[in-house]
Amino acid sequence: MVKKAIIPAAGYGTRGLPVTKVIPKEMFPVGAKPAIQYIVEEAFASGIEELLIIVSRAKSLIVDYFDRSLELEAFLERRNKTHLLKEEFIPSGQIYYTRQPYARGLGDAVRLGKSFAGGEPFAVLLPDDIVLHKGVPAIRQLIEHYERCGQSVVGLNKVERNELHKYGVIRGEPLDNGAYCITDMVEKPKTNPPSDLAVIGRYVFTPAIFSYLETLPSPGEEEIQLTEAIRRLAAEEGCQGKLIAGTRFDIGTADGYMSLLSAVWKER
Ligand code: UTP
Repeated sequence: MVKKAIIPAAGYGTRGLPVTKVIPKEMFPVGAKPAIQYIVEEAFASGIEELLIIVSRAKSLIVDYFDRSLELEAFLERRNKTHLLKEEFIPSGQIYYTRQPYARGLGDAVRLGKSFAGGEPFAVLLPDDIVLHKGVPAIRQLIEHYERCGQSVVGLNKVERNELHKYGVIRGEPLDNGAYCITDMVEKPKTNPPSDLAVIGRYVFTPAIFSYLETLPSPGEEEIQLTEAIRRLAAEEGCQGKLIAGTRFDIGTADGYMSLLSAVWKER
């Protein structure tokens, strides 16, 4: 059973500058909630009981948001306005935090969760990828697939060919029910993408991923790339991809963020 999840939220968000200099993209408002609340709700609604959020010095707003504000509660109580906090998010599980001292890449951020994962399979949710879906939450879809196949699973979306250069793209053999056996993976292919199957920010990993993350990067490279670790994992232990039902929005770009706002507005 997958009961733990890691949310890496320590990146600089350079595509969102200048606003991300002081407001983390994970805290961008989507209605009255910050984006990361969608992710935390998705995790707990999917059976996750413990979450580790990877933050940095610039992301203390995230820690503050999920904490109680006793001063504000007392203030609202005095004014009989506690109903204003009725939408406040009270996590149903435990949230832990750790800081990534240098933004050395997504692979490095996930690596920091090794002792948290404690030798168990775990989920990873990227907080800048919001998946709207009325049925089973995105990470739950992967957890259910992991429980059937016993291998690490990455979330996939079919993407237009001219957009594939923005994603990690897999090469894979089709299995049943929108699943693929991954044979290779290329990060942001400039030419000749191996398929139209792009990796989106939802994963379930066996603890074996850490042994690959620990042997990266090769000398001279600065970033520890999760994609490279998944490529090696796929070649040795095996790794599957699974198409995720739902609409995915990348709030790391202005287009993705605006499309999410418009979709949420229409749904309300
Ligand atoms: P991105 O690749 O979107 O990087 O990271 P980024 O820094 O957030 O944004 P851009 O590309 O510069 O605009 C995907 C997820 O991984 C986290 C980010 O916070 C984001 O949620 N991440 C990335 C880390 O936690 N640490 C890192 O070193 C890099």
